[in-house]
Amino acid sequence: MKIKTSAPGKLMLFGEHAVVYDRPCVVTGVSSRIHVEIEKTDGHFMVDAPGVKDIRFVEETVRIFKEKFKTGNGLSIKTSSDFSCQYGFGSSSAVTVATILALNKLYGTQLSQKQIFDLGYKITLEVQGVGSGFDIAAATYGGTTYFVTGGKVIQPLNVKTISLVAGYSGIKADTPKIVKSLKLKIKSDKTKYNGIFDQITKIVEDAKIELKNSNWRKVGELMNKNQQLLESLEVSTEKLDTMCQAALSAGAYGAKLSGAGGGDCMIAIIPEEKRQSIEQTIKNVAGQIIHVTNNAPGVCLE
Ligand code: PMV
Repeated sequence: MKIKTSAPGKLMLFGEHAVVYDRPCVVTGVSSRIHVEIEKTDGHFMVDAPGVKDIRFVEETVRIFKEKFKTGNGLSIKTSSDFSCQYGFGSSSAVTVATILALNKLYGTQLSQKQIFDLGYKITLEVQGVGSGFDIAAATYGGTTYFVTGGKVIQPLNVKTISLVAGYSGIKADTPKIVKSLKLKIKSDKTKYNGIFDQITKIVEDAKIELKNSNWRKVGELMNKNQQLLESLEVSTEKLDTMCQAALSAGAYGAKLSGAGGGDCMIAIIPEEKRQSIEQTIKNVAGQIIHVTNNAPGVCLE
């Protein structure tokens, strides 16, 4: 029996970094997905994961399953991806969650969605050491989600399709490194960083309301404010700033980096009729447009 599953990539809409410190964020699942195919073998273990940045996410998932449910080792796993793992769309989380669902089906372990999330988060922490789990939530639940560190709150938001542009900066971000170096800075000035995180929290709470109301102009303003605070955390880059400025100059409502910063993607909320000129302006500053839509469904059988 061959089991096929897939899970969506993600874009962080609001609240990155603050969400590592017991605060909320808003994340959306994107239409580009990671696909996993699993079948039992007569004993040997094979992984063929060409689009996956770090194969340990798959291996660790299998190891934990084996330990927890006393399952066997004979497995053949193949993955494929709709997007490059360079973009920072959460390919590691998506492949982890898609592998969990495939094993869940293969072995009949009947994990609930929350158990899939918890297991995925545990694996992320084991492999990468840091992280809030927001990307695991996006891969598991899909849609647009209000999320607090570690899954303390996972609340689906009723958000319509967003007119969104995603632009890749051409540089792969090293998320664990950026998160760890910010942690050191926070230690040296807790008051300053708590103040910034309080402001980000207010933005996330306001964004939650404006997203539900489809008040895109206001959502854009909140993105700009969020970007300013990310710049004050010194996680943005000149390239990301330039791409955001380019989008704004061509009429975007708002723009910000999405994820850890240091590279990966920026996003912009736009009036749909200006899409072409905004995308062109981002290309003019050497950004690469990635075509995705928000609110993709979470992990599922294919
Ligand atoms: O770099 P990404 O796309 O994995 O996003 C990281 C977001 C952080 O808030 C900085 C870290 C986290 O795990 O929440």
